Amino acid sequence: MSEAEQRRESLVAVYREAAECTLCPLAQTRTKVVFGAGNADADLMFIGEAPGAEEDRRGLPFVGRAGGLLNELLAEIGLDRDSVFIANTLMCRPPGNRDPQPVELESCRPYLLEKVRLIEPKVISTLGNFATKLITGDQTGITKVRGRPQVHRLGERTVRVFPILHPAAALRTPKLRETMSEDFAALSRLLGEPAPDQGPPPEDPPPRRSEPDSRSDRDQLDIFAP
Ligand code: URA
Repeated sequence: MSEAEQRRESLVAVYREAAECTLCPLAQTRTKVVFGAGNADADLMFIGEAPGAEEDRRGLPFVGRAGGLLNELLAEIGLDRDSVFIANTLMCRPPGNRDPQPVELESCRPYLLEKVRLIEPKVISTLGNFATKLITGDQTGITKVRGRPQVHRLGERTVRVFPILHPAAALRTPKLRETMSEDFAALSRLLGEPAPDQGPPPEDPPPRRSEPDSRSDRDQLDIFAP
C-alpha cells in the first residue's frame, strides 16, 4: 500500500471515530456529523465555519447555496470538489447557526489537526472571519487579511494559510463576487509554489490507525476520493 493510501485509511479511521463523537453538547442536536469531504491527499484544503441546516441533514460540507458558489469558484481555477478537501472548524451544526462556542471548538480541534496531519495539504484556505481568526490566532478582520498568504504551524504540519471571504458573504453582497474570483486566481498561483519546509520529522510519530470499511459507511467513505 502506498504512503498516500495509508494516510487515507487512517483518515477513514478518524472519520469512524468522529461519526460517533459525543465530546460536546452539539452531539445531542446534530443530525449527522459533517466530517469533511474530498480528496484525502489534496494539496488544497478549505476550512469553513460550521455546518448549516442542509449540511447537517446530508452529512456533507458546503452543500447549500454557499457550496454552490464554492463549486463555481473552484471551476474557475480548473478544480472541483474531488480535487480538494473541504472541512469546517466544527463538525456539528450549532443550533440556529449561532457562532461556535469555545467548548465546541476545543472538542473538534484534535479532529481538525488530524485531518491536516493525514491529508498533508500545501495550502489551507480559510473561508471567512471565523475560520481565519481561529486558524491564524490573529483577530484582524477578514477584509484586511484576505488574499494574503501566511505560513502557520498547525499541529504537526507547516502550511501556507490563504484567507478568503466566506462564499456566503458574496451571496449577501454581490459586488464581492469579483473579489472572490481574484482571490481564487491568487490561490491557484499559490498552489504552484513549493510547500513550506516541514522541518525535521517528529521523533516518535503517532501510530497510523486503519480498519476495513463497513457497508453502512460506504456513502460517507466515498467522499474521500483518491
Ligand atoms: N458554511 C460553512 O461555513 N460551512 C459549511 O459547511 C456550510 C456553510
